[in-house]
Amino acid sequence: MEIQVLENKQEVAKTFSEYFAQLAKTKEKLHVALSGGSTPKIVFDYLAENFGTEIDWNKIYFYWGDERCVPPTDSESNYKMTVDHLLSKISIPDENIFRVLGENDPEEEAVRYGEVLENTLPLEKGIPQFDLVILGMGDDGHTASIFPNSIYLWDSSRNCKVATHPDSGQKRVTITGRIINQAEEVAFLVTGASKKEKVREVIKREGEFNSYPASMVNPTSGKLIWFMDKDAAEKIS
Ligand code: 6PG
Repeated sequence: MEIQVLENKQEVAKTFSEYFAQLAKTKEKLHVALSGGSTPKIVFDYLAENFGTEIDWNKIYFYWGDERCVPPTDSESNYKMTVDHLLSKISIPDENIFRVLGENDPEEEAVRYGEVLENTLPLEKGIPQFDLVILGMGDDGHTASIFPNSIYLWDSSRNCKVATHPDSGQKRVTITGRIINQAEEVAFLVTGASKKEKVREVIKREGEFNSYPASMVNPTSGKLIWFMDKDAAEKIS
């Protein structure tokens, strides 16, 4: 596990973008699972503004690690957030974008998207393998859309499952632990003081870390990198 502690969110965005651009150079095709949340917005803006022409987007294939079960035009949609902050600013072929169809029935879409992963990603030991999975971590220790109160979803034998947000009841499609831990690289993007306690517990394996889905991220043979600002890393520095 590698931990990068940066001064602030902008520095997280800069450092991650440089890492992403470098990773892209090493691959003929880069299959990436994107995350939602506020940190990726800053990262996507930075990527688009500073690497828009430096990266060959024709070799980048975007998927989502989780998506809210809402239409793609809904303000809650992770796809819409990605369009607003990145996809609308770069030149990437439509066929390189594998959107979760949030407007579909959640259970049907979880099955369909699981098959999309199966049919479009390289398989490693029979499991769809991303080159890079980008994850955030919630204040409660959730990651992707696997929440502590449904941590059993992590161990599903399915590629994707339907999750329910514990507060809003919003349905989401999320990739499961078998996909996340099969990735060649996993990048946690975690910023803000509200995360500092969970960061300490998850990284130091202390407190109730076992009850946080973020603690289950442990790539089978891949690399795990945490990109954090000082606020989030305060209790591990
Ligand atoms: C989502 C995300 C979610 C997010 C965390 C952290 O769809 O909301 O996938 O898992 O990564 O909630 O979000 P922040 O980046 O806002 O801290």
